[in-house]
Amino acid sequence: MLVRNFKFCFPETAMGVPIHAQEDPDSEYCRSVTDLAELTVHRRERIWLHPDFIFYNTPVGRRYKKCLNLVQGFTKKVIQERKALLSNAAKRSHESSDEDRSFGIRRKKAFLDLLQEVSMKEGTLTDEDIREEVDTFMIAGHDTTASSSSWTLFMLGHHPEVQEKVYAELSEIFQGSQRSPTMKDLNEMKYLERVIKESLRLYPTVPFIQRILKEDINIEGYDIPAGTAVTVLIYYANRNPEYFPNPEEFNPDNFLPERVLSRHNFAFVPFSAGPRNCIGQKFAMLEEKTILSSILRRFKIRSLERREDVNPIPAIVLRPEHGIKVALASRT
Ligand code: HEM
Repeated sequence: MLVRNFKFCFPETAMGVPIHAQEDPDSEYCRSVTDLAELTVHRRERIWLHPDFIFYNTPVGRRYKKCLNLVQGFTKKVIQERKALLSNAAKRSHESSDEDRSFGIRRKKAFLDLLQEVSMKEGTLTDEDIREEVDTFMIAGHDTTASSSSWTLFMLGHHPEVQEKVYAELSEIFQGSQRSPTMKDLNEMKYLERVIKESLRLYPTVPFIQRILKEDINIEGYDIPAGTAVTVLIYYANRNPEYFPNPEEFNPDNFLPERVLSRHNFAFVPFSAGPRNCIGQKFAMLEEKTILSSILRRFKIRSLERREDVNPIPAIVLRPEHGIKVALASRT
């Protein structure tokens, strides 16, 4: 089995509509999001493509524009459709006082519906504002968790002893039942959480972040003036031997509560830190536990390639250059 990247039901949570990415791994929307990331990196590394008037007149720039139009067009269409649906439902149900009802439809609200609701009630957000928020969520939210889960499976496929401990934890929680996990089950998956974190340490799906300095700083004797663009390399920070002895070794015990407490808060920052940190980090963990536990309850995973043969590419999210090859053996 070649794991290029799992695509989750995230679009349904964000927009309230499924995009059937599981059944259609070549979904045009997912393909375009992936292409946009690759084309952005391609442009970033070629200084002559930085000016818009050159970039958009090259084949790569035209492909970028096409993908961008497709992604934004899809979101715009969904926003229009759901806006119409919500305003019709609102007319029908304005007598209702049931707080669980979302415009008369008894269901959980998608992120997009929540924004529409605020916009309709308070008139504070334009359609363009809503589209930008939904696009940020869609892009920040789906490829990151997909990539992180793929790397976690890859590491578990190399460490059968760790995989058996995860399986033992899951067996304890589910007691042989085939039911889907509840929120309580997910919270009990403590060892799986440590495994996900250790995989994120070695393969941080956001391998670097960037900031413009607001004030002058001095780092180890070097003066760096305000206004400088700095890149924080999470990938390397996670390998600091001062905090992670044997940094290349896969060891989920690095995330035992007592070890976490003994480290500096910023020694491990896969979700960044400070006021612009990841607002989806708790959701990401729940999502990953859901998908990984579903796979690991049913299958044993074996990685078919050596770690050193799988090249991680920083294409905005950290991807395996040619996907990850794993073998699945049914546990039943
Ligand atoms: C393993 C999964 C994920 C990782 C590693 C991750 C990592 C990050 C990082 C490092 C940032 C900060 C970027 C920066 O400082 O420039 C960020 C921002 C963000 N993330 Fe995540 N993320 C993940 C999943 C998610 C999910 C599931 C969502 C949505 C539900 C999400 C939504 C966002 C948003 C909206 C921002 C921008 C926040 C802001 O600028 O104020 N992320 N993420």
